[in-house]
Amino acid sequence: MKFIDLNRQYNNYQGELEETLLRVARSGQYILGPEVEALEKELSAFTGANFAVGVSSGTDALLLGLMALGVGPGDVVVTTPFSFFATVETIMLLGAEPAFVDIEEDTFNLDPELLGPELDRLEKLGKKVKGIVVVSLYGQCADMDPINEVASKRGLFVMEDACQSLGATYKGRASCNLTDVAATSFFPSKPLGCFGDGGMVFTQDEKMADLFKALRIHGDTGRYQHEYLGINGRLDALQAAILRVKLKHFKEEIGLRQRAAHRYMELLSGLEEEGHIKLPRIDPEKSSVFAQFTIRVLTKERDALAKAMTEQGVPVAVHYPEALPFLRPLEHLGFKRGQFEKAERAAQQVLSLPMHAFIEEAEQIKVAEALGRALKA
Ligand SMILES: Cc1ncc(COP(=O)(O)O)c(C=O)c1O
Repeated sequence: MKFIDLNRQYNNYQGELEETLLRVARSGQYILGPEVEALEKELSAFTGANFAVGVSSGTDALLLGLMALGVGPGDVVVTTPFSFFATVETIMLLGAEPAFVDIEEDTFNLDPELLGPELDRLEKLGKKVKGIVVVSLYGQCADMDPINEVASKRGLFVMEDACQSLGATYKGRASCNLTDVAATSFFPSKPLGCFGDGGMVFTQDEKMADLFKALRIHGDTGRYQHEYLGINGRLDALQAAILRVKLKHFKEEIGLRQRAAHRYMELLSGLEEEGHIKLPRIDPEKSSVFAQFTIRVLTKERDALAKAMTEQGVPVAVHYPEALPFLRPLEHLGFKRGQFEKAERAAQQVLSLPMHAFIEEAEQIKVAEALGRALKA
């Protein structure tokens, strides 16, 4: 059993994918161009965001988003303490200082109720807060309405790190269309993944979209007219073409993921009732794309349990084993243990189970049985 079985997906669309690979190989156009433009239009339509700009990875999508929003030295950007490192890395690469607001117990996303008080505290310290990067973790959107409200009252930007949530919805609206700017990733294991690195940055604002387009090619606004300091952040034609094939099947795959998640909920409800684990909670006004199916382990030490499951032939993963404020590159900022209690506890308890659109019921039963045995050993 694989944690994410990409071969199974490939085999399902093999004919279409191989035809596409050859078409792009024969086209002689390998970076940006018509395939990327077509994908941008299709993803703009899919999400409802006015503009979508293809870039080289989710990390570069975050970086370009922050660059276009004018983040730089002297700025503070508020984010969640519980995410993949790139969320905070991109803030810091631009010379800005990160600040953190703890997460909600159930969704693992930034808690909107704590946001206002933290912004007040930062203001009192004389910090220049520029905006908020909100992560929609594991495929479920953060509670964007109250976050947008607080931000708009204070003139702050909101960017969604939607690297795990493309395809999810919040109150009937799509992830990537909920904030000023959003960034997603097409890393192969993401719900919509390509055959390498890729990403997309979204906005409602045409000027902002033009800025993304310039920044992804070294700030170039015409031939060698370098108006800004940018990066090499372009998307390959091949990746865009592959994504266009997979996008045709994406809605169906989201349905399959949700069915698999529902099956896990049923298979594991007994373990939850016995108090061994906590299952994912999806708010009723949201739909998750289940980029991960992540439980909390309550009655056993998580790492020992993960090892026991791997030994039984069930691959598992930990997203993520440490809260961001305590990672090495943030040491100098002096965050203290206990400051982000919920994120710190999540880092000790979370365990992701095998999840992809093509997982079979028999495999899920095997996962559930292995988990039960490991918990009760
Ligand atoms: C929440 C989050 N942010 C950012 C990234 C970075 O995306 P990429 O790996 O495409 O650079 C990822 C994915 O790895 C992610 O899960």
